[in-house]
Amino acid sequence: MSRIAYVNGQYVRHADAAVHVEDRGYQFADGVYEVCEVWQGNIVDVPRHLDRLDRSLKELRIDWPMARSAVQFVLRQVVRRNRVVNGLVYIQVTRGVARRDHFFPSDDVAPSIVVTARSADPKAAQAQAEKGIAVVSYPENRWPRVDIKTVALLPNVLAKQNAKENGGKEAWYVDKDGNVTEGGSTNAWIVTKAGVLVTRPAESGILRGITRQAILELVAREGLTFEERPFSLAEAYDAKEAFVTAATTIAMPVTRIDDRIVGNGHPGTVATRLREMFHTATDLQAV
Ligand code: PDD
Repeated sequence: MSRIAYVNGQYVRHADAAVHVEDRGYQFADGVYEVCEVWQGNIVDVPRHLDRLDRSLKELRIDWPMARSAVQFVLRQVVRRNRVVNGLVYIQVTRGVARRDHFFPSDDVAPSIVVTARSADPKAAQAQAEKGIAVVSYPENRWPRVDIKTVALLPNVLAKQNAKENGGKEAWYVDKDGNVTEGGSTNAWIVTKAGVLVTRPAESGILRGITRQAILELVAREGLTFEERPFSLAEAYDAKEAFVTAATTIAMPVTRIDDRIVGNGHPGTVATRLREMFHTATDLQAV
């Protein structure tokens, strides 16, 4: 079955899907995106993802390309047309196509929208979660507005590639105070030796992850001991557990940070439990 993408009002073969060379997303990374998990035939936390998309668009003064309800319809259509049962759906909105010029184009330039979906193998993800991943620290070098989910991901690409070349699956950014901010495409968490779950506040320095929000609700519901505060790389080295969260990973245990083994070197019980229970804290929209 050939894949289908949605591009500016049309469903097209994925192999032929394209935007214009003067799309500002291509020229300036002048756009934003969202990634939603597709789980057992449901799109996970669509209202929260669209709320964050709305915020990102507002921060950059880009208009919605069409009504929110229409975007929601297209998300479902693209998942359905690609027969994705488990995987992800991606949405990207840019400021549109205009002659290359740094200034915003005139108001009659419509934003561009692209939606794609792809399948993922839940068994492979589970096998990874039962093993845990390694992360590699990296100096924080991004702009301060990482709260906006823009497609300007070059620093993230370089940090993650560095992680890969050093045997890791994810990068952990470390700021000038020695604190972990977040991963290259995930939020970062630890469980201290005293059993306290810690993650950095989302007020600055990180993207307010949708998975992070659902996990926080789960943590409150389960009555786990929890602190929202910065934690240092040294504290993470010494933690009982570590894990990352994102729509693409759910809660994924971290068993090595740089050359340090985390805890006993196996996925932690807290991360594993949060992973197992995750979808009970999410909004599920059947496609
Ligand atoms: N990344 N921090 C960064 C820098 C991210 O790029 C992401 C998501 C997250 C987690 O956010 P959420 O829980 O809403 O997925 C945190 C997506 C999945 C990506 O770029 O592929």
